[in-house]
Amino acid sequence: MEVFRIRGGSPLRGTVTVSGSKNAALPMFAATLLSEEPSVLENVPDLSDVRFMAEILQHLGAKVERLGPTGWRITPSSIDHRAPYDLVRKMRASVCLLGPLVGRLRKAVIPLPGGCVIGQRPIDLHLKAISKLGAKATIREGDVYIDGSTLKGGSMFLGGRQGSTVTGTANAIMAAVLAPGSTRIESAACEPEILDLCRMLQGMGARMDGIGSHILTIEGVDALRGCRHQVIPDRIEAGTYCIAAAITDGEVRVEGARTEHLGAFADKMEQAGVELKADGADAVLARRHPDGLCSLEIITLPYPGFPTDLQAQACALACVSPGLSILTERIYPNRFMHVPELLRMGADVSIEGSSAIVRGVSCLSGAPVMASDLRASAALILAGLAAKGDTWVQRIYHLDRGYEHFDEKLTQLGAEVERLPESALPQAAQNEAVS
Ligand code: EPU
Repeated sequence: MEVFRIRGGSPLRGTVTVSGSKNAALPMFAATLLSEEPSVLENVPDLSDVRFMAEILQHLGAKVERLGPTGWRITPSSIDHRAPYDLVRKMRASVCLLGPLVGRLRKAVIPLPGGCVIGQRPIDLHLKAISKLGAKATIREGDVYIDGSTLKGGSMFLGGRQGSTVTGTANAIMAAVLAPGSTRIESAACEPEILDLCRMLQGMGARMDGIGSHILTIEGVDALRGCRHQVIPDRIEAGTYCIAAAITDGEVRVEGARTEHLGAFADKMEQAGVELKADGADAVLARRHPDGLCSLEIITLPYPGFPTDLQAQACALACVSPGLSILTERIYPNRFMHVPELLRMGADVSIEGSSAIVRGVSCLSGAPVMASDLRASAALILAGLAAKGDTWVQRIYHLDRGYEHFDEKLTQLGAEVERLPESALPQAAQNEAVS
């Protein structure tokens, strides 16, 4: 396993280019299965999650080829309906195979994804969507068996206790585009990644209305063709670099940051004393306001609300922002695994229910810390960039699932970040990791 050593204190300066969106690309890989013809996806980030998904498609019988650093061609002429447990268990997003398999083959067997460190993550809404389309789901020995022999259009309401579901909406759409008749999805997720998926499906010949809204209508077609589609830039990666600029008191031009995807984030950053200035159509200039950082209040919500996937990074920023900040989680009430590690770096944070109460400190100090999930990893690295001394972040394989070349991009901006073998950890941290 590898670790990061971050020597804090360097203000980040320069330009960074955001990669394609992980959460848009993963369902799109699954969507290619809806046609027998080849599809080409471009601007795909080079991430371990993407490589897992490619492996799963190959296992299902698709021909998968890389076309340069960001392109993939997938040719699913003939595919199987059974997703392999040993690959699926590594990545929750593989649940997105359910819709395309049922749509194209009228049957699917998918291992039930378990919970994960950020929360329970049930799939009841995915199964509700499939059953509203006339399919029958049964769970046996850890697998979901779907019989879609009577698949047809239907009406459904996909709102749950935490709002709409992103991958559940993707599954509903992907099954409905090949279901005979009309489908109406109410309380559909309207994240930019869903909108991008709909655009890709339209390119394949799908018929739908209401794209980007909470009510989608779909008219099923008999077959879809292959397509060529460019994945949107990753808004979460963009937000992470904006925070990196602010937390280090630097100035970074974030290329690929689309302001139309960053509304709630930009609003909260303004409150926190972070200036985000549009610089051309597809870039943002991020830096601290001359008056400095100040406290912030955030509630995570489905899009267009503040994204849960930027809560941990915003928490790192709040740790060094004067005053009392409150970050409340409405999507994953327990997504605060980064907090105990931030405490090790001298942060002052307490958890009250589903809120983190943060009292800004004047300085964090470097420490060995343990990453628990993708966004927590990013938060710890951001904190390390602002801290005095060396921060050692362990379990960075979580980071590699969702941030393309994070260490290289930060280094280009002037950060002192090194990817090292675990054996390079200071002795005390190695003992801690073992015990
Ligand atoms: N939920 C249910 N029942 C369901 C599905 C979801 O109760 O059937 C609940 C969840 O437990 C959660 C809320 O609804 O409380 C929202 O979950 P959602 O289904 O929207 O999440 P997801 O589709 O599994 C995607 C992203 C996550 C991101 C969430 C929320 C992908 C591959 N993953 O997950 O990304 O946090 O939407 O925006 O798109 C990440 O990138 O770090 C990440 C975790």
